[in-house]
Amino acid sequence: MNTTRWTEWFEWFHAHPETSGEEHETTGKIREILQELSIEIIPSNLPTGLLAVIRGSRPGPQRALRADIDALPVLEETDLSYQSLYEGRMHACGHDFHMTSVLAAAELLQADREQLKGTVWLVFQPAEEAFTGASQVVQTGLLTGVEQFWGIHADPDLDSGVVGIHAGPIAASVDRYRIDVTGIGCHGALPHLGKSPLTVLSGLVSDLDAFARRSVSPFRPSVVSVTQMHGGDTWNVIPKTAFLEGTVRTFDENDRTAIHEAILRITEGAGIASGTECVLTWTEGHDPVINDPDLSEYAKKTAVKNGFAWQEVPAAMVGDDFGLYSKTFHRPGVYLKIGTGKGHNLHHPAFRVDPSAIAPTASFLKHLLMGD
Ligand code: NI
Repeated sequence: MNTTRWTEWFEWFHAHPETSGEEHETTGKIREILQELSIEIIPSNLPTGLLAVIRGSRPGPQRALRADIDALPVLEETDLSYQSLYEGRMHACGHDFHMTSVLAAAELLQADREQLKGTVWLVFQPAEEAFTGASQVVQTGLLTGVEQFWGIHADPDLDSGVVGIHAGPIAASVDRYRIDVTGIGCHGALPHLGKSPLTVLSGLVSDLDAFARRSVSPFRPSVVSVTQMHGGDTWNVIPKTAFLEGTVRTFDENDRTAIHEAILRITEGAGIASGTECVLTWTEGHDPVINDPDLSEYAKKTAVKNGFAWQEVPAAMVGDDFGLYSKTFHRPGVYLKIGTGKGHNLHHPAFRVDPSAIAPTASFLKHLLMGD
């Protein structure tokens, strides 16, 4: 195993972060590495990201291994020698690690393709952070024959190289909502002549907690968060408009619908009660990621059989568009957590991956996809 080269790839990716839809240099680097490894790149209409394939010499299923490749608009605060060369952009979600591990696994699979049963699709997916990447890949129409989808994500709650497995829901649905309130602006001393959108917003915050979050069973996890509120410019004027925005997370489609409907009722009710115009904008994002029980069991057995450290991990309210593959193609998928050393959380400016996680991850993924 040429782990020195893998570390070089990782450091290059970390130093050259590109945000969603802008991953041109990143795609170029992936292409270059795949060409060096003599791995077949499949032409697609993707502006960024790419698909490649390793065809085994023995018969077997088509499996896909997905790595997301985008970075975040975060100003890096690590002291790494290979830190971001682009101010205000950072691989703060470990996608640099995902790309490297999948490329390293691809190198191992390619070397052993005489023994490989079936076909492995390598999916280098753009724009995961923007909700749009999985959908772009699905729309290429190239993955319709895939029978199993595998994905990985860095996990700073696990020791380096430990595989985290959990059958069932593993990542939440991610929706975004915004409520715009238009009232009547007036002098701060004469509130009876206006209709304050700020008063409406303050009521909305407690109503969202009281009625939206509590519209689903406490036995099933859900989140309704308010994340920004804006309105007003100065101290003595009641503004005409204001808005708030937030996110909803669930693991269950019915809960997702129930909360959406509750927020709509709360919005309409606030408008009627206050005499202002209240408008809800709902933006549907990621679906929940549900790990297939049989494939999760297979992953556990593969770890035990080959001596890899693994542990059961809890589901998390963070989202990932990986769930779209299984949902679209009605094929099972598993999203694995991979320990990258304990430390700062994902998306934190000081988040870092311990590169010692790359070699065991590549080796585990190879075993998983060899079909033996
Ligand atoms: Ni991520």
